Amino acid sequence: MPEDESSSLQEKKEKAKKKKPKLLNKFDKTIKAELDAAEKLRKKGKVEDALNAFELLVTKYPQSPRARYGKAQSEDDLAEKQRSNDILLRAIGSYEEVAGLPNVPTDLVKTALKRKANRQQFLGRMRGSILTLQKLVQLYPEDIPLRNELGVGYLLLGDNQKAKQVYEEVLSLDPNNGFAKVHYGFILKAENKIAESIPYLKEGLLSGESGTDDGRFYFHLGDALQRVGDKEAYTWYEVGHKRGHFASVWQRSLYNVDGLKAQAWWTAKETSYADLVRSLEANWKVIREEGLAVMDASKGLFLPEDENLREKGDWSQYTLWQQGRKNDKSCKAAPRTCALLERFPESTGCRRGQIKYSVMHPGTHVWPHTGPTNCRLRMHLGLVIPSEGCRIRCANDTRSWKEGKVLIFDDSFEHEVWQEADSYRLIFIVDVWHPELTQHQRRTLPAI
Ligand code: LMR
Ligand code: MN
Repeated sequence: MPEDESSSLQEKKEKAKKKKPKLLNKFDKTIKAELDAAEKLRKKGKVEDALNAFELLVTKYPQSPRARYGKAQSEDDLAEKQRSNDILLRAIGSYEEVAGLPNVPTDLVKTALKRKANRQQFLGRMRGSILTLQKLVQLYPEDIPLRNELGVGYLLLGDNQKAKQVYEEVLSLDPNNGFAKVHYGFILKAENKIAESIPYLKEGLLSGESGTDDGRFYFHLGDALQRVGDKEAYTWYEVGHKRGHFASVWQRSLYNVDGLKAQAWWTAKETSYADLVRSLEANWKVIREEGLAVMDASKGLFLPEDENLREKGDWSQYTLWQQGRKNDKSCKAAPRTCALLERFPESTGCRRGQIKYSVMHPGTHVWPHTGPTNCRLRMHLGLVIPSEGCRIRCANDTRSWKEGKVLIFDDSFEHEVWQEADSYRLIFIVDVWHPELTQHQRRTLPAI
């Protein structure tokens, strides 16, 4: 096909997609002036006036789908303005009523029910939103974007198997659907089907379709490529960075506060937590003793790393604090260590981090990986360190632990660990708030 012809076809396709939805039925066209007047209020942000106007129209024309939809949207606006879940529930009910009226234009049924599902998700009513989306798919089985939304609904619910089925159906109906491809690839990756996930993630991203440009897809495509040893990973990280998803090619956390000082390795002085570092180094033997005692007596408190970060090997952790919450049971077995830490709220109060022992056995390799947030820094106190064979790379700088000494890095930068010694390695990990976060941010940032 000559190029210009194919592009005009493409344009037609685009136009078809952007076509304005038809929201008025025959009757609503006869009351268009009244509907427009109410809608004008809504567009101007006069939320209460718009709601009054649409409520009057609904009373006057109870069978008018467009008036009912205007009422739903006005309630939706008001819910947002007043941050009221009760009003939002009313809006959800009104959207449902729209779809139940006689002679509703197809576009309006879709628009109303899609918004209903979206608001149900917003309220955390994932099951309700699934029911709404299922109904939509049933009504319009040929509508691919609706099926794609249903897939997202299942993912939000944590039902990856159902989501997978949905995307398999979409890809059999529409093999080039980019949205379905990235989501399908994402699910395969979560199933640890690394090589299989790559073409789906890649082609989905290359499609440029709306809904595909999400940091998580670049993150997991790059990760999959790194695990199969393909250098193209960094090309994708670069694209992810250029599109604003990653602070840099190395720093790929997705839950960030903008503008925080960003460097892979830190000195104690730079962190302003020199007291904490001094205290850890001065008491390292006590901290080691308590860690070793737990390893001997109640090994079960050390839990294997469960984030699928290892290529191979044996790596477990024993957690004292996480998300700013103390684990009383763990602390009972390490009382002096916990007492020491209580003096440092920059760490015990770090709701985006952990405090834990980490034991790694010979023959372990931890894949290059990136923590979730730039809001913390990670201290590693060396406790039992074999004389050689243990190292950690963060960005392009590789270091080793020393007994009684603290290393500090920002784990939102890519890092990788090797344990090739002939005996185990034990360290103590202490996360701290990024020093530039204000007290207000430390109190209010959601935990991770
Ligand atoms: C990490 O924090 O990813 C690792 O470095 C932890 C460890 O035990 O080495
Ligand atoms: Mn890590």
